Amino acid sequence: MNDTSRIIEMVLGGQPSRVVLGPLAALELSRFIPQPPPVYLVDEAVARLQPAWLAALQSGCDPDRSGTLVLPGGESGKQLERLGHIYAWLAERGVPRDGTVVGIGGGALLDVAGFAAATWQRGVGWVSVPTTLLAMIDAAVGGKTGINAAGLKNQVGAFHPAAGVMVDCGFLVSLPRAGWRDGLAEMIKAAVIGDTELFSAMEAATDGLRGLFGPGAGPADEAVAGVLGALPWRDWVASAVAVKADIVRRDFHEHGPRRALNLGHTLGHALEAWRAGTPDPLSHGQAVAIGMAVVFRIAVERGQCPLTVAVRVNELLDACGLPTRCAAPPVNELERLLAADKKRRDGRVRWVLPRGLRQLDLDGDVATADLLRWLD
Ligand SMILES: NC(=O)c1ccc[n+]([C@@H]2O[C@H](COP(=O)([O-])OP(=O)(O)OC[C@H]3O[C@@H](n4cnc5c(N)ncnc54)[C@H](O)[C@@H]3O)[C@@H](O)[C@H]2O)c1
Ligand SMILES: [Zn+2]
Repeated sequence: MNDTSRIIEMVLGGQPSRVVLGPLAALELSRFIPQPPPVYLVDEAVARLQPAWLAALQSGCDPDRSGTLVLPGGESGKQLERLGHIYAWLAERGVPRDGTVVGIGGGALLDVAGFAAATWQRGVGWVSVPTTLLAMIDAAVGGKTGINAAGLKNQVGAFHPAAGVMVDCGFLVSLPRAGWRDGLAEMIKAAVIGDTELFSAMEAATDGLRGLFGPGAGPADEAVAGVLGALPWRDWVASAVAVKADIVRRDFHEHGPRRALNLGHTLGHALEAWRAGTPDPLSHGQAVAIGMAVVFRIAVERGQCPLTVAVRVNELLDACGLPTRCAAPPVNELERLLAADKKRRDGRVRWVLPRGLRQLDLDGDVATADLLRWLD
């Protein structure tokens, strides 16, 4: 391994899954690829914005790079039609049972590519190269793959851990500010649920974060000038990956501790779904930021969480240009959306409520009236 690489090992469902973090992590791809050469499913944004880097990482295991399918990134790529297209391409190439699929892209591309790998020939080798902040610290770690179907998000999928997850922050140079903010919402969540040092480090960098991402920092759809050298991203990404790895190692199939990862997500999913398709949609990260801010307010009001912690979380979200408030949906709409939350079990929604940093109640109750008090 490269001298500066860090490795995080997991065994998920009996399968080794190793995250390699480093400046040139992607160039170590070939270590995870047995014969025959792999096929690559590549996010169109990466193919367009980082062609030289893509060529360098592919050339290590497959000099002619003939087996490359470039696919549009983003949520619209997680449809059944896209999966059908991928299967047709895998069939055309004759990818065998001992073949390997390498996914290179954002979380959406990795979800669909991983699901294709999980199901083609009842499961072929799978290696991922996440290229957004959110994919690096969340989507690529933990072995869940999936697509959207029947109008529902992520309800069809498979557990299929990647043998290798190559995390290389160099890809983030072209990530638009909105993508950074989405990843930062999940990074703050990871810090809150599992790493007080990461939280303090981000807090100590509040001014830097605000300058790069805060309200008015610059256009949401443009890359962030000077971002990679400005803050210790590699350390922070490693810390956030470690938080998720630690949780999924203990609870691969989401029976218990993995629910901690849902902090801010129960309300977040409802708000994201409510605003989808409107002129003013909320991204996943924005919705989760509001969801976290609201559960902190509820926990403080109940005397279950110190006010100071809630204020610190709010300030960090704000410094990253993430919203902490939102208009309330109509009551019946809010209740309908919450009831549809996939985390609903035993006839009720289980809320993750904070008690402080690294302290959570994984089985809380929140009434609609509590939510409405803290929505505008
Ligand atoms: N499997 C899991 O455990 C898990 C966990 C969290 C999220 N997810 C999924 O991840 C998805 C969200 O992932 P995301 O936030 O990466 O969004 P995304 O995959 O939709 O990517 C956002 C946009 O960024 C582009 N992009 C990718 N890499 C880029 C780069 N380096 N530079 C510039 N643009 C780039 C993509 O083409 C896309 O247009 C959702 O579908 C969500 O369901 C899965
Ligand atoms: Zn999330």
